[in-house]
Amino acid sequence: MTILAIESSCDETSASVLQAGKILSNVIANQTIHELYGGVVPEVASREHQKNIVPVVSEALRQANIQPQDLTAIAFTQGPGLLGSLLVGVSFAKGMALGLGIPLVGVHHMKAHILAHFIDEPKPSFPFLCLTVSGGHTQIVRVESPTDMRVIGETQDDAVGEAFDKTAKLLDLPYPGGPLIDKYAQQGNPKAFEFPTVEMPALNYSFSGIKTSFLNFLKKQTHQNPNFVQENLHDICASVQYTLIDILFRKLKRASRETGIKEIAIAGGVSANSGLRTRLQEEGELLGWNTYIPAFQYCTDNAGMIAMAAYYEYEAGKLASQATQAQARWEIK
Ligand code: KG4
Ligand code: ZN
Repeated sequence: MTILAIESSCDETSASVLQAGKILSNVIANQTIHELYGGVVPEVASREHQKNIVPVVSEALRQANIQPQDLTAIAFTQGPGLLGSLLVGVSFAKGMALGLGIPLVGVHHMKAHILAHFIDEPKPSFPFLCLTVSGGHTQIVRVESPTDMRVIGETQDDAVGEAFDKTAKLLDLPYPGGPLIDKYAQQGNPKAFEFPTVEMPALNYSFSGIKTSFLNFLKKQTHQNPNFVQENLHDICASVQYTLIDILFRKLKRASRETGIKEIAIAGGVSANSGLRTRLQEEGELLGWNTYIPAFQYCTDNAGMIAMAAYYEYEAGKLASQATQAQARWEIK
């Protein structure tokens, strides 16, 4: 079975070829143009996908040494994501599948982030818990099988990636700020500053309050010392990162306690964060967890994870059709 997968849910255009469950290529075109605007501009993202999609797909096939006629199916990210961005990938996949006379597979982007764990060894065993953290989502997912997942806790407002990016913006760092906070945090003291946080009920999260408390903190400090940010950038980043990761961990530990599950994975763009990766390893060891962290190239958006998810969907006989629509909003069910 040879699958070509296309990812275009946000601001990365990506294509991947998977054969017999193994990734042969994973080509990603980043849209750096959004840095100019301090965030992803949906209309611009859609136009960039239109420019990138043909060269990215051609390159993925070339690197895999696969001809279009060799393909068994074409997979695409069906949702959730930006509608204009999704439509480019969905339309391209439909056209190509129609031309080749082969089936389509529609993939759930967040499920694919989780299934990135099945690309390389070691693979988690079922059931496992996955903390799925990206620019649009923050969820704790109970994974029973590649096609059976349930959200047991999630953010009620902002996603943690959004909290990273918005704090970075307040520090005048370019978009996306998450990776930069991570970089500066590595040389800072995580206990230098404290920010008040709210405790949400059950396994839920809230990240909108932290942005406000951080803004108030910055206003107060810069009022006293206009050079506060420049003089304390590393400590500020380390403290913000520590606070965000600590919030993530409190609920993750509770989820493990309540379910009795000790197979614990992280996924999504924020799982590239070095503080989160280290904390999972260290705390996981103390708690007797088996922990799973995806390789860097499969943390942020990529078509490799879409191909992996499509492999399981295809095996389960779950195919899409020419009538399948992009879904900007789509819950894991
Ligand atoms: O999964 P992803 O690539 O796209 C979405 O589906 O949203 O996640 C993007 C998010 C952004 O908010 C970005 O700032 C964050 O992941 N991110 C990081 C790091 N790398 C990416 N956040 C903190 N530390 C990082 N190293
Ligand atoms: Zn994503």
